[in-house]
Amino acid sequence: MDFFNYRNNTLFAEDNAIAKLAEHYQTPLYIYSRATIERHWHAFNDAAGLHPHLVCYAVKANSNLAVLNVLARLGSGFDIVSKGELARVIEAGGDASKVVFSGVGKKVDEIAFALEKGIYCFNVESEPELARIQQVAQKLNKKAAISLRVNPDVDAGTHPYISTGLKENKFGVAIDDAITIYLKASTMSHIDIKGIDCHVGSQLTTITPFIDALDRILMMVDNLAEQGINLSHIDVGGGLGVTYQDEQPPMPSEYVAAIIERIGERKLTILFEPGRAIMANAGILVTEVEFIKTNQGRHFALVDAAMNDLIRPALYQAWQNIVPVTPNDTLESKTYDIVGPVCETGDFLGKDRLLAIQAGDLLAVRSSGAYGFTMSSNYNSRPRAAEVMVDGEQHYLIRQRETLAQLWQGESLLPDNK
Ligand code: LLP
Repeated sequence: MDFFNYRNNTLFAEDNAIAKLAEHYQTPLYIYSRATIERHWHAFNDAAGLHPHLVCYAVKANSNLAVLNVLARLGSGFDIVSKGELARVIEAGGDASKVVFSGVGKKVDEIAFALEKGIYCFNVESEPELARIQQVAQKLNKKAAISLRVNPDVDAGTHPYISTGLKENKFGVAIDDAITIYLKASTMSHIDIKGIDCHVGSQLTTITPFIDALDRILMMVDNLAEQGINLSHIDVGGGLGVTYQDEQPPMPSEYVAAIIERIGERKLTILFEPGRAIMANAGILVTEVEFIKTNQGRHFALVDAAMNDLIRPALYQAWQNIVPVTPNDTLESKTYDIVGPVCETGDFLGKDRLLAIQAGDLLAVRSSGAYGFTMSSNYNSRPRAAEVMVDGEQHYLIRQRETLAQLWQGESLLPDNK
């Protein structure tokens, strides 16, 4: 459930009329709802109840400092994949000791930075990475806590680009090699084995793949215990899906309960790494219709947001609902492609949408809080959108719209005489 609802025929974010926010901050504009973010985080945290656990929000979904800060204030942990994400978490007041570091290509300086900041655990994705962590930790005279990301070879039944738990994916180590790697890790002087983790994919809409993966991982936990390696945590990754259209993913409470039940009597702290489930429906992208045009009988609404602002439709053929901010019954409904100004045929936010709209209208692209702004770019030299967070009747600018000068910040000309 989110806090974007119509009142008197116009869309609100909590107690703020979107039309007013758009007038004030201009478009394209990302708007997030604090109450929705908090509600979604609590859905995970409360469901785990007294079972030892840590919700490590996946920063990649939305890394705005204000978003991270809202979560940090709730006591959240964080799942990061780069030095930059860790720096953001710290800048936002997050607790480094509640951070897990995922990702297949950790560089030496990133490992050193994470060790210096005292993160909770590295989610190790390969044997060479383990060796590198040992080396860096030894040099810094620190002990690196690790968990091995095991690839359970489970088909998540999701889009191939966001499916990560199959044998052919680049993520994690093969389940058959895991024991050998754990045994090696146990002999390393600066490695402290803490746990095991897996992540089977994103936007999963059934519980089955999670449970299949968990069962395989738990078998591994038991095997390791027989070999004298006792783990203290299991990290079940992220991936719980959300409703974009008519998907009916399990509620976080069902998902968490199923996991806890499977873990049974084992003394394992559970780590969750949700990103989308917390942020997707906590945000919208507001855009204005610049022109309506018809080419060869096809209707287009040209809007001021584009694939550089929200790439999911272009990259994954993702469907996100597009609704008028203030519906107008007096207009004729037509089937529109909602397209941006970028010079690419793939620049669309939605296709074949039945809408009654005209130039100057505002549209809201729903479910844009996750993998929206974080995947945006300056393609076509378009300054990135502003971001606003609403909190009841309040609204706060949490990222200024980029200026033209910021577009070439850091660039320089060749010397005049060359
Ligand atoms: N943990 C790990 C190790 C991950 O790789 C991911 C996402 C997550 C947690 C969070 O997954 P979530 O709960 O958000 O599903 N850009 C794509 C999604 C890519 C997800 C990558 N990994 C999209 O817009 O659909």
